[in-house]
Amino acid sequence: MKKGFVFDLDGVITDTAKFHYLAWKDLADELGISIDLKFNEQLKGISRMDSLERILAYGNQADKYTEAEKEELATKKNTHYVELLQDLTPDDLLPGVKAFLDEANEKNIPCAIASASKNAPFILEKLAVREAFAAIVDPATLTKGKPDPEIFIRAAEAINITPAEAVGFEDAQAGLDGIKAAGMYAVGVYSGEELHGADVIVHELTDLSIDELLQK
Ligand code: BG6
Ligand code: MG
Repeated sequence: MKKGFVFDLDGVITDTAKFHYLAWKDLADELGISIDLKFNEQLKGISRMDSLERILAYGNQADKYTEAEKEELATKKNTHYVELLQDLTPDDLLPGVKAFLDEANEKNIPCAIASASKNAPFILEKLAVREAFAAIVDPATLTKGKPDPEIFIRAAEAINITPAEAVGFEDAQAGLDGIKAAGMYAVGVYSGEELHGADVIVHELTDLSIDELLQK
């Protein structure tokens, strides 16, 4: 029996992945590095600094910048990203998310956010669903990022359930690997790329029944 839900944010609750891509692509262009949507797949679920490191390595510039310069580059990307988020509204929730959260809240099933994004609280406010979540793990407090299970284990703890009692939702392979390593039931949310290891794959949350998930 499952007792709670643990959600990734970007690509599961809302499609902010496209804004991350735009902001990284702009920065990469400036650095003379050409990234495309295929390369972007491997940035999903990965922290801001690790994403920058991957882009620099991809452009053979791994050793070109000091730590302070890299901080500046990451800040520049984030400033652009946050600009792109300004127009987010509740209409930008992915299909089925609002109804799913409302039903979970009505049934007193606790929901938590396990996102690598430091912008998660801001985005949830913009989408008007901040109150639907009993907990948001602060990614700044983690020792390891996805695919390590730490963030998912911490999310389960925060809503007072064990990982085995949780259902995790992810659109990225790194996140799915983390959910499975944590010992949770994994829902993969398909966003165009093949996902491996999910217990079930859906196109949107409307494809799921909360009562059935709780029986898993
Ligand atoms: C994840 C995204 O949710 O958050 C990644 O999938 C992103 O693409 C990461 O790099 C960190 O986000 P932020 O908002 O803290 O830069
Ligand atoms: Mg995601």
